[in-house]
Amino acid sequence: MDCKMADKGHICLQLGLMIYCSLLKECINITYVSGTSGAEDILFFRSGENVSLPCNNALSGCTSTTWNYNRGSNTIELVGVGKLNNIDRRERLSVGSDCSLNIMNATKEDYGSYSCRQYVNEQQQENDARVYLTVLNVSSSLSQTEMRAGRSVTLKCKLEYYGVSCDTLFRTEGYQLVWVNQAERNLATDSRYKIFSSSPCMISLTTTLLNEDHNKEWRCQLTQNNQLKTSASFTVKYSASNATTTVKPAQGK
Ligand SMILES: *[C@@H]1O[C@H](CO)[C@@H](O)[C@H](O)[C@H]1NC(C)=O
Ligand SMILES: *[C@@H]1O[C@H](CO)[C@@H](O)[C@H](O)[C@H]1NC(C)=O
Ligand SMILES: *[C@@H]1O[C@H](CO)[C@@H](O)[C@H](O)[C@H]1NC(C)=O
Repeated sequence: MDCKMADKGHICLQLGLMIYCSLLKECINITYVSGTSGAEDILFFRSGENVSLPCNNALSGCTSTTWNYNRGSNTIELVGVGKLNNIDRRERLSVGSDCSLNIMNATKEDYGSYSCRQYVNEQQQENDARVYLTVLNVSSSLSQTEMRAGRSVTLKCKLEYYGVSCDTLFRTEGYQLVWVNQAERNLATDSRYKIFSSSPCMISLTTTLLNEDHNKEWRCQLTQNNQLKTSASFTVKYSASNATTTVKPAQGK
């Protein structure tokens, strides 16, 4: 690939390394450890969104393009020589004119490692261009029917990712997870909430539910150097049958 086509200096450097290193097979792995810049992208999405995954090593025309998906032990070929394969989520996928992979109405299950690979005359070209698709997953310790005032609830917000390490994401890229209320106030500053983090990719919120929490929304935000990258929310709903089993606010006499 002509380096002038790359729009960032470090992509050139990385491609240069890859070409140089391709003579020494072990070297290839080392270039991948080097981080998340260059031919690697991290994308965040919310379920229901349409996501476009760039193919950063595309050649002209897309007939040489293969898209592979990996999460766990299996790698699935989604696109082979520019054509969609007959796979489960085929109806939601398409290949853009720039060889990008478009995912329509993404679901949480779409997270994982995607790689765009080029073949010319059945020869694999250079290295894959990778996109790590990640999503925030908020889950509750209480089911819908268990939600009622007086109960303690823990909401867990976890970044789901595959193929890249949490430490790499959070230490080198400056990401941070926070819980905020509807007014965007960081709940760590409010003694009503206990905020806990066992790893940089997970943050939980524990609180005792109050009557007034019905319809209240708590939001988990992922920021990078204080800029919002993505968020996921949880809205408290008390079911009608629970509405009467309430904790009465302290009444003055
Ligand atoms: C996703 O793309 C489809 C098809 O182009 C469009 O109908 C839909 O409105 C888009 N959804 C969002 C959330 O943009
Ligand atoms: C998107 O996916 C959700 C959940 O799978 C579904 O309920 C909804 O109808 C889908 N929307 C479109 C536009 O396909
Ligand atoms: C979201 O988190 C819940 C609870 O930990 C888990 O059961 C579920 O599999 C997660 N969803 C995804 C898409 O990983």
